[in-house]
Amino acid sequence: MTARWTPESWKTKPVSHMPTDYPDARALADAEDELRTLPPLVFAGEARRLQARLAEVEAGRAFLLQGGDCAESFKEFSTDNIRDTFRLLLQMAVVLTFAGRKPVVKVGRIAGQFAKPRSSDIETIGDVALPSYRGDIINGMGFTPDERTPDPARLIKAYHQATATLNLLRAFADGGFADLHNIHRWTLGFADDAGYAARYRELADKIGESLAFMEAVGVTPETHPDLGRVEVFTSHEALLLNVESALTRRDGATGEWFDTSAHMVWIGERTRRIDGAHVEFVRGIRNPIGLKCGPTMEPDDLLALIDVLNPENTPGRLTLIGRFGADKVADRLPRLMAATKAHGKRVVWSIDPMHGNTLKASTGYKTRPFDRILAEVRGFIDVAESEGVHPGGVHLEMTGQNVTECLGGFQAVTEDDLHSRYHTHCDPRLNADQALELAFLVAERLKSGRVAAAEAA
Ligand code: PEP
Ligand code: CO
Repeated sequence: MTARWTPESWKTKPVSHMPTDYPDARALADAEDELRTLPPLVFAGEARRLQARLAEVEAGRAFLLQGGDCAESFKEFSTDNIRDTFRLLLQMAVVLTFAGRKPVVKVGRIAGQFAKPRSSDIETIGDVALPSYRGDIINGMGFTPDERTPDPARLIKAYHQATATLNLLRAFADGGFADLHNIHRWTLGFADDAGYAARYRELADKIGESLAFMEAVGVTPETHPDLGRVEVFTSHEALLLNVESALTRRDGATGEWFDTSAHMVWIGERTRRIDGAHVEFVRGIRNPIGLKCGPTMEPDDLLALIDVLNPENTPGRLTLIGRFGADKVADRLPRLMAATKAHGKRVVWSIDPMHGNTLKASTGYKTRPFDRILAEVRGFIDVAESEGVHPGGVHLEMTGQNVTECLGGFQAVTEDDLHSRYHTHCDPRLNADQALELAFLVAERLKSGRVAAAEAA
């Protein structure tokens, strides 16, 4: 692992979960060359700023909220979808900030989250077998030979969709939409009778009162421009290493390499082998990075990966994202947290309560029960508290749309409801109601943790 790193050195390692069936290798190489000439999506300075924010999370002084689509798609690309996901992130962040009294670092699974690892290369329906769908950046979801053939033009289309998405996010974040004075307007679309809606309005009223007080003493968005904007960052799984390395550029000021496709990228559960291509690529970029930690990970595996991915033990560099399943978190997480703590590893611990809680409904839909998602989050906070580790964040698949993909929640989505608004291109996402309900649950836990810490002090 100590061999020299370059943006291409991953090619000398075993590559998994990347398509190998492009019919036209020349066209693929041309698309990669074109990506190499296109402008970066993010700057090194922004990625460094996110790392500094994550160092605050590591120190227990902030909380990480990471969420968005399982897979972005060309079809669901619209201003409204992006706005609604952004608004949901803001709403959840307000709830979490108010309860935890800590800043919330907001990171979208957005503007580049296109490629999916698949458990099988082939999907069979009846007696027809076709390549699996791998995300719109590779092939199409339709079950036809034409759609399922990888198409290099999709790499370029995904790049341009990511730039347009990021442009809109930057405008929403800076252009007034995210001004806290608009907090009441963010409630548009709430079901009036939802339990959390009343709680959210109550919170918005309190924040409104605080803002009115601040205005009275002269603190306004005009005198303090930061009041009127928020910081939001982008992230996705670093799965397609040809795309990631084509967008990896050297920072002129320091000579360090940054993957300019997003502020943060993570290594998935299926591609975390220590001698594999994905670990090799990610170790050399200076962006903050994530590592999914699933139920088969042992403390020694984790410590070895940490040594490769964060050899200098830099706070904020590495976020560990547990994803065990509600039934396994209490068994699998304590040993991992204990190991990072005992070895003084400066990592952020976050929880992805989605990927260990997927099941198939009797109607055939892939779904996730909301109560199991909540149970895994609770289990995570319980373990963190008993290990004396900061429960640093949550990592969610969610959308601002009123979809019916996960079971339960305030609207009590049932197996029979799943078909009515099942729009995901991959895994089932929390809808806006469910995500906000989850934010209130986490907020209550953060608040009681804060109160307990104050009493102990
Ligand atoms: C994902 O985050 O969409 C994903 C595939 O997760 P994991 O690697 O944890 O299975
Ligand atoms: Co997913």
